[in-house]
Amino acid sequence: MPSIEDHERGIAPKQKKRGLNLTEGRQRQQPDEKPQNDREDFSDEIVLRTENLTAYYGKFKAIEGVTMAIPKNQITALIGPSGCGKSTIIRCFNRLNDLIEGFHIDGKVYYYGQDLYDKSIDPVAVRRRIGMVFQKPNPFPKSIYDNIAYGARVIGIKQDMDELVETSLRRAALWDEVKDKLKTNGVALSGGQQQRLCIARAISVNPDVVLMDEPCASLDPISTLKVEDLMRELKKEYSIVIVTHNMQQATRIADVTAFFNARETDQGGKQGYLVEFGATEKIFNEPTKKATKQYVTGQFG
Ligand SMILES: Nc1ncnc2c1ncn2[C@@H]1O[C@H](COP(=O)(O)OP(=O)(O)OP(=O)(O)O)[C@@H](O)[C@H]1O
Ligand SMILES: [Mg+2]
Repeated sequence: MPSIEDHERGIAPKQKKRGLNLTEGRQRQQPDEKPQNDREDFSDEIVLRTENLTAYYGKFKAIEGVTMAIPKNQITALIGPSGCGKSTIIRCFNRLNDLIEGFHIDGKVYYYGQDLYDKSIDPVAVRRRIGMVFQKPNPFPKSIYDNIAYGARVIGIKQDMDELVETSLRRAALWDEVKDKLKTNGVALSGGQQQRLCIARAISVNPDVVLMDEPCASLDPISTLKVEDLMRELKKEYSIVIVTHNMQQATRIADVTAFFNARETDQGGKQGYLVEFGATEKIFNEPTKKATKQYVTGQFG
């Protein structure tokens, strides 16, 4: 059984493929799928969609009844107070929670209309199409070059490695800073550079969606702005979902924002749910729900 860390690093051993063609799935589109929003100028295409998604850790229901749609080639921000289930949701999008014992869901998660939790789906193939970048930069303790090349080799990418390394580092806006020291250990880079290296590694395997769970939480303001610039650039090619506690960050980069909150349960725990989802300027300037207004104006959370 591969550890969650292996999966986080994208080096989990390959599992037997079970008749999944997620590349084919990219082209599939349900014509009536639209994000729940009031704006007309969103990309019409929906990459990921949840339908009444409820997630459990054992008997504990962490989130309940989430229905939302992630538009293609846009940045979608998930915001809300600690414990409302943002990480749980984002990990449902690439089946990373499967690695947690007792975790299960009710409801559906669709990737271009394909049911991601169908028995025929290989979770490793899902994680290749839908990559992940974590809060704490986690480069391998290997050279900058091998941080890209190793993962690519493990999953059997046949492309010229020098070219793949350069392209990935260029796309992650890191090439100019590291091109003369590709043999240096990745962990010797600054935090901001390490995070861009992790983004380079995530995109080197040519995913379709990049999930980022608080990717700037451990970065200084300048590195944060660099990663934000990078996200704006990357959304031309990828669809991005980001969890952030930084409201300014959400308004700077997100096209769409989903606000989650948590309610007390009879058992004394908390349960997350989606309060409101729409164009970022609407969520921040004219939210429909009182709780959204209170949260985005810093009155709680
Ligand atoms: N591996 C796990 N096992 C059991 N419960 C978990 C696990 N991970 C999260 N939870 C619980 O699920 C709920 C939602 O947690 P989650 O980490 O998704 O929240 P979050 O919104 O990402 O919070 P934060 O902003 O602090 O990162 C919490 O009550 C948390 O304790
Ligand atoms: Mg979290």
